[in-house]
Amino acid sequence: MKADVSVIGLGKLGQCLAISLIHKKFKVIGVDNNLKVINSLGNGKVTVDEPKVQKALKENFKNIIFTEDIGFAVRNSNITIIIVGTPSDTYGKFSNKYVKSCLKDISKTIVDKKQIHHIVISSTVMPNSIDKIFIPYIENNFNLKKHEHYSISYCPELVALGSVFNDFLNPGMIIMGCSNEKASKKIRKIYNKWTDNSPEILEMNILNAEITKVAFNVYLTSKITFANNLYNIVNKLDGANIDTITNSLGMDYRISRYFMKGGLSFGGTCFPRDIKAYEYLNKKYIKDTTYTDTIVKINNRQDKLLYNVVIKNVNKFSTISILGLSFKPNTNVVDESPSIKLLASLIKLKNKINVFDSKAISNTKIIFGNKINYFEKLDLAIKDANLIVLLNPIGNFKNILNKTKRKIKLIDPWRLIDKSKLAKNIEYIHYK
Ligand SMILES: NC(=O)c1ccc[n+]([C@@H]2O[C@H](COP(=O)([O-])OP(=O)(O)OC[C@H]3O[C@@H](n4cnc5c(N)ncnc54)[C@H](O)[C@@H]3O)[C@@H](O)[C@H]2O)c1
Repeated sequence: MKADVSVIGLGKLGQCLAISLIHKKFKVIGVDNNLKVINSLGNGKVTVDEPKVQKALKENFKNIIFTEDIGFAVRNSNITIIIVGTPSDTYGKFSNKYVKSCLKDISKTIVDKKQIHHIVISSTVMPNSIDKIFIPYIENNFNLKKHEHYSISYCPELVALGSVFNDFLNPGMIIMGCSNEKASKKIRKIYNKWTDNSPEILEMNILNAEITKVAFNVYLTSKITFANNLYNIVNKLDGANIDTITNSLGMDYRISRYFMKGGLSFGGTCFPRDIKAYEYLNKKYIKDTTYTDTIVKINNRQDKLLYNVVIKNVNKFSTISILGLSFKPNTNVVDESPSIKLLASLIKLKNKINVFDSKAISNTKIIFGNKINYFEKLDLAIKDANLIVLLNPIGNFKNILNKTKRKIKLIDPWRLIDKSKLAKNIEYIHYK
């Protein structure tokens, strides 16, 4: 099959990206070096827990080939999107090692191609990676010439876990930096057919696109940090209500209501990593990390606050039930989630700990093994609880809780439950 696009890296994002492309009738070759992923996808089964992806794969299965072979993908397409992981290195930078490994295999194949090949980097990379690292790497090692043999562009994704497939089809905007006009035209054509919502395309030079992507998430963590800092002040003032205040701030068009709710620390696969990368940039270019130090400090402070409130409300006989394990609702990702950070401290206490989550149990088991008790049924998870910590919204939680007759304390940092509607045996503990 001659494909319109090849996609290298079929992880949390790449899998949704490739399948959203076939959903819009592109022919795609999907590549990953993890044989388990390739086998599963080849058998029609997705390995990510994201809405709509499984159905879209089933409906468009004939339009995609899965392989481990980058050479095959490059020979049979003229555009390759690289969306492999870029984990933090020891300096806090996004590591380029997986991207470079892909570029090596792509370059080896391009040498023998007659047509120009368009390389699109979608992985999050440090500023100047493309101009100062990837292009010299390709040209010095493989004797390739930009715009004679290949073009290279940066198109970072601004999608969120839990809605990745939908976000690819309805992005708020497209950020795009291309090495030349020809590449820009090619990629615009793809976005025009791929997206449902005709987003604005913000085209800029590659360096600006690289910086914009990092700046995005850093700005969002700054908003969360502000809301959390304000939360802590407001809680010291009798009669003040954090949600009244932040909802009002969010009404202003200059501020917006998103990421403006005081509560728990941020976590996940992106924010903590992006802050590390930004800290590196602060160190390197202005030799002052006050800004990122403050964000990290305030974020850690929220974790400590949660731990302290829990500790104050248990004794050595208490059973603690933690409800919600993922870093945000509707995902199975637990990386640096407030629950996982809390559990890491609580297991030292030797209390009985029960946990519940509808999606993230197996990822939590990998971290804590048999040190805690896992439940896939909510009523069983809280059956013997003395303290419940509700960290993500859970559909029927209030009804199940109100059926219990025992005395239970409840910590609800996101104010998900209306405390005035709780049964008398439930004591609402303020997270402050
Ligand atoms: N996860 C998010 O919410 C998010 C959001 C925006 C951007 N991003 C960026 O997107 C990129 C991908 O993130 P992800 O969460 O999908 O990562 P992931 O770790 O879930 O997936 C990466 C995939 O790439 C594959 N891979 C690695 N090296 C390879 C190689 N040489 N050849 C073929 N396959 C290879 C891995 O096997 C894996 O399946 C990262 O740069 C990340 O920063 C992630």
